[in-house]
Amino acid sequence: MQEKLQSIRERALERLNQAADTGVLEQIRVAVLGKKGELTALLRSMGQLAPEERPAMGQKVNELRALIEEKLAERERALKEREKEARLQKEAIDVTLPVQPRTSGAMHPCSIVLDQLLTIFTGMGFEVVEGPEVEYDHYNFELLNLPKNHPARDAQDTFYIDDNIVLRTHTSPVQARIMTTRKPPIRIVCPGRTYRVDEADATHSPVFQQIEGLVIDEGISMSDLKGTLDAFASRLYGEGITTRFRPSYFPFTEPSAEVDLTCANCKGAGCRVCKGTGWIEVLGAGMVNPKVLEMCGIDPGKYTGFAFGIGIERITMLKYGVPNMKYLWENDVRFLKQFR
Ligand code: DAH
Repeated sequence: MQEKLQSIRERALERLNQAADTGVLEQIRVAVLGKKGELTALLRSMGQLAPEERPAMGQKVNELRALIEEKLAERERALKEREKEARLQKEAIDVTLPVQPRTSGAMHPCSIVLDQLLTIFTGMGFEVVEGPEVEYDHYNFELLNLPKNHPARDAQDTFYIDDNIVLRTHTSPVQARIMTTRKPPIRIVCPGRTYRVDEADATHSPVFQQIEGLVIDEGISMSDLKGTLDAFASRLYGEGITTRFRPSYFPFTEPSAEVDLTCANCKGAGCRVCKGTGWIEVLGAGMVNPKVLEMCGIDPGKYTGFAFGIGIERITMLKYGVPNMKYLWENDVRFLKQFR
């Protein structure tokens, strides 16, 4: 029995030393100390010993059990530590590796400017309204005092879908749509794409964008128009920028004006951009023609109004010093990236 004990001890300790992971330790524990383990079996067979030998033998078996338990615990601690090290090694992140560069897009300059215009006008109490790009001749021309054969139609070379339907040549038809469906007071701006049969060049494109403004109420006068556009000019380009009205003609306004803004480049002193004049033409405006009010079902005896139309591309080119309109359409990322 003494020998058996010795051999259990030697084998157990050797296996323990060689154990490569905590799983093997568990196997050893079961094989030696478990219910059916070697040491347990030895303890059971002590009945074969003479009664006086039993206490001493029992003590030896218990000592060995304690020793093996202690070694198991010790070895387990060591193995766990090693396993943790290995895991940390494996999960280590190299924070010095370069990251994947993230590319982000940029707003198109026309969208940046349009956003600014909408902020300025909504800040003054205007509501934003949109209309269709494929439009009835009725709204694009007729209700705006441009009957068929009116000479001013020639100024807007029109894409016709059929006799009665066109690609809108300006955003003014949205005015007509709103006037025929709402009662004053009306205070709207209408941004959107517009189309004309134009050869693309440095300042023209067959597709372009406008923003239309319309105010109708009792007692609206030309000074309201001037005040509104002056506020718009200084909010867009900064203090000191004002407007200059020059007499002009639009069938839908009377009187009508071409409106210039102080050249933002030279603050009015005169430079290459404004060709020495100190002014830049940017929009058309006027008092809504009473004929238009009447055609749209608004009483011209009671109400008056003003309207204006601004070219978005033109404002954008002036604001950023873009020399050719084609840059706004080419979608060359080297150009677009500059507006990030
Ligand atoms: N619709 C005109 C155009 O495209 C611009 C314009 C001028 C709009 C005067 C207006 C206005 O509302 O009052 O050329």
